[in-house]
Amino acid sequence: MNIAANPVVEADQTVYLKDYQKPTFLVESINLDIQVFADHTNVNSTLVMKRQTQGDLVLLGRDLELKSIQLNGEQLSNSQYVLDSEQLVIKNAPDHAIIETSVVIHPETNTQLEGLYLAGGDLFVTQNEPEGFRKITFYPDRPDVLAEFTTRVEADKKFPVLLANGNLLEKGEAGEGRHYAIWQDPTKKPSYLFACVIGDLAVLKGSYVTSEGRNVALEIYAEEKDIPKCHIAMEALKHSMRWDEEHYGRPYDLDNYMIVATSQFNMGAMENKGLNIFNTSCVLADEEFTTDAAIMRVQSVIAHEYFHNWTGNRITCRDWFQLCLKEGLTVFRDQSFSEDLQSAAVQRIDDVAVLKAHQFPEDSGPLSHPPRPDHFVEINNFYTATVYEKGAEINRMMATLLGKEKFRAGTDEYFKRHDGQAVTVEDWVAALTAGSGVDLSAFLTWYNQPGTPKLEAKGEYDALNQTYRLSFKQSLKPHPKYPNLKAVPIPVALALFNAETGEQYTLHSDALVENNVKDGVYLFDQLEASIELTGVTSQPVVSLLRNFSAPVNLVFNYTDEQLAFLMRYETNGFNQWQATQTLLERILLNGHDASIYIQAMKKTVPDVVEKDPLLASRLFDVPTEGYLGSRIDVEYNPDQIKQQRNALLDTLARELGSFCKETYLALDPAIQKDFSQAMGVRAIKNIMLSLIARQGDTDAFDFAYQQYQTTHNMSERLGALRVLVWNDAPQAKQALTDFYARFKDEPLSLDQWFMVQAAHPNATAQTIEALTQHPDYDLGTPNRIRSVSGGLSNNPANTWSFGVQHYIGLAKYLDEKNPILGSRLLQVLSRWYTLAEPQRSQVKNELEALKPLVKSKNVSETLNSMLSV
Ligand code: ARG
Ligand code: ZN
Repeated sequence: MNIAANPVVEADQTVYLKDYQKPTFLVESINLDIQVFADHTNVNSTLVMKRQTQGDLVLLGRDLELKSIQLNGEQLSNSQYVLDSEQLVIKNAPDHAIIETSVVIHPETNTQLEGLYLAGGDLFVTQNEPEGFRKITFYPDRPDVLAEFTTRVEADKKFPVLLANGNLLEKGEAGEGRHYAIWQDPTKKPSYLFACVIGDLAVLKGSYVTSEGRNVALEIYAEEKDIPKCHIAMEALKHSMRWDEEHYGRPYDLDNYMIVATSQFNMGAMENKGLNIFNTSCVLADEEFTTDAAIMRVQSVIAHEYFHNWTGNRITCRDWFQLCLKEGLTVFRDQSFSEDLQSAAVQRIDDVAVLKAHQFPEDSGPLSHPPRPDHFVEINNFYTATVYEKGAEINRMMATLLGKEKFRAGTDEYFKRHDGQAVTVEDWVAALTAGSGVDLSAFLTWYNQPGTPKLEAKGEYDALNQTYRLSFKQSLKPHPKYPNLKAVPIPVALALFNAETGEQYTLHSDALVENNVKDGVYLFDQLEASIELTGVTSQPVVSLLRNFSAPVNLVFNYTDEQLAFLMRYETNGFNQWQATQTLLERILLNGHDASIYIQAMKKTVPDVVEKDPLLASRLFDVPTEGYLGSRIDVEYNPDQIKQQRNALLDTLARELGSFCKETYLALDPAIQKDFSQAMGVRAIKNIMLSLIARQGDTDAFDFAYQQYQTTHNMSERLGALRVLVWNDAPQAKQALTDFYARFKDEPLSLDQWFMVQAAHPNATAQTIEALTQHPDYDLGTPNRIRSVSGGLSNNPANTWSFGVQHYIGLAKYLDEKNPILGSRLLQVLSRWYTLAEPQRSQVKNELEALKPLVKSKNVSETLNSMLSV
């Protein structure tokens, strides 16, 4: 039924923010009837539409078999509309239009995991953000069209669970062994928040009473055997609901909240109104089967999706360029929530580590874009670290600057003004400004331009006048597509320490903003400026960007001794960690001597291990080979980085001597008072284990094997397995065999089994080949693909040799089968142009050769950008 696509549309597929136009028609209500059969699904819909502006009535639709269409009760013939592969257009439609369509779709063969799809055996689910709904029915599938949805779902009774958004109105028999359910969502919503689920799942039930007294039924749907793994998520959900009431004054608004877990999902999770759909990796949590890091992630993703109910759902985006409006704000909110769950400093360390490992490199390479892009070919390519993580940082900067109370006044104003609307980044900043009384409009620049600013700072002590002058300068690398880069407002949280006593000075300066945060914050918003701090009685050591108060690259001419001083005396846990990382970067990239670092570790660590094992575990972080590589723009040699990093770790292990074994044997996670302490102890013990192995002490293998066998905790088991496997210990094979036997029916645990082998530092093409040929490897399950591809990318030296074939092969294979994932995986190679020759040209040739072979907008847009350097 599809006619040839309009050639003009095909020629330039770029969509521009500046071309935004209001929808010509709004949808008041939609009635959907979805009938699932084994080999097809019928979708009937009735749209009650009303004209808003002049122009054609446009319904978007992709891969739909149109059976019939009626307008105000009259059947339309082929000549009364224009249909191409993307849309159905009716010219001269009346101002009130009731459109009825019948289409056939094929969720049972949909491998793209977008729209309605079969997610393994007994489960159909949807993923409609951003543009999946158009693969279910003809609709103005854009976020600024908000409608009331009523959904009838019908299927064979072998699928007992029939869910959609909102309240269950009716359930009944549909004949021939089939049944149906009718759901109605009272809140108007855009189509990307529509969801339905048809399956055979068990359910964990809970309940929650909101601050307004509403009794909410909570339900988590998963496979029967996984229900015991849903309790942590259930508690996190209740906790999130309370947290949003207490911190933002936002209670939940429906009588039920459902979460459905599926093992086949491209992303982490999706905030569909009242019916979240989750990757199992972001909902199942259990110490026996999943790691501590995974448990923390489950809690943060549960919170993230819940928080979207206000920031995303009730107030949504006008268009997809505004994606960071909902994502940046919601990530900032989930990060704040997680800071309350464990040590706030460690949470900040982990969040900044992710930012620096993913967002900074993205923003310095060919895929760099503003947090609010101004054009795209495929919007799925813009669910990026920049939109999410840098977006969150922009909100954090404004929150830091305002302090708690004013920030809350600002968000209150946002919810008051825009509840029920689809809005823009400008609307958000304007509401924050109005509510707080502080003009934040300069922060819009952060949303609109790409690149990580460089912040150069200098300090000068004047002993005579007892003043300390700090001067700042900001700059951005020129960007071909953004010639007019402007200065951005940079909140600089800072502290001064007395170099002799280690004590912190009380700061005196007119330039420091008074607010609720503990640290003095200086708002630096010009290209160059300086401030003078008075009452500084002796030579100080300055600590800048405490808690990472702005997402910039700081350059300050510390001596290595001053960094070691901060490792020791800085009371902000984040900056203590940052000082360690800065020192290590100098050692690993600039050839500084390691002895100052080693001495500082010896002095600092024993104390911290006692007091705060979780923070101590982070102080042992050594920048990854991937991160180090991302700091090199030309002549990057992955093997050399690997060697240098290993040499440093060998030195650290040797110098710490018996401390490693003593600490390992002394610490016991079982006697810790809470989860986060125990998690810290487990992390430290695993680090000690790997250092003992580095010392060449084969006791490490006996300890590891013992730990492997006796524990019931996945972080301990995996930590031990890693030491055995990565050191090729005699017990490695046996442990791997045992792990497989134990967890072969637990996909998330088995993912770890694949990952640990793929991430072996000396993995070869054959290692990867064997893993991808394994009967449990599955190209239809993104988690499994990522366990191997993600493991491989742990080792850039491998990634950039035999790994290149792996990623290119996957991009080619997934190009049409799952283009969202294919495009993502290809991005591992985006910094190819920094490699030293001959690798640089080799990778370039491989990428060029891929170009004519790919068809999807997703992969081709990514590939074109990657090659445009
Ligand atoms: N909105 C979801 C979340 O951040 C992510 C959906 C991503 N979907 C996609 N097709 N990229 O919670
Ligand atoms: Zn989100």
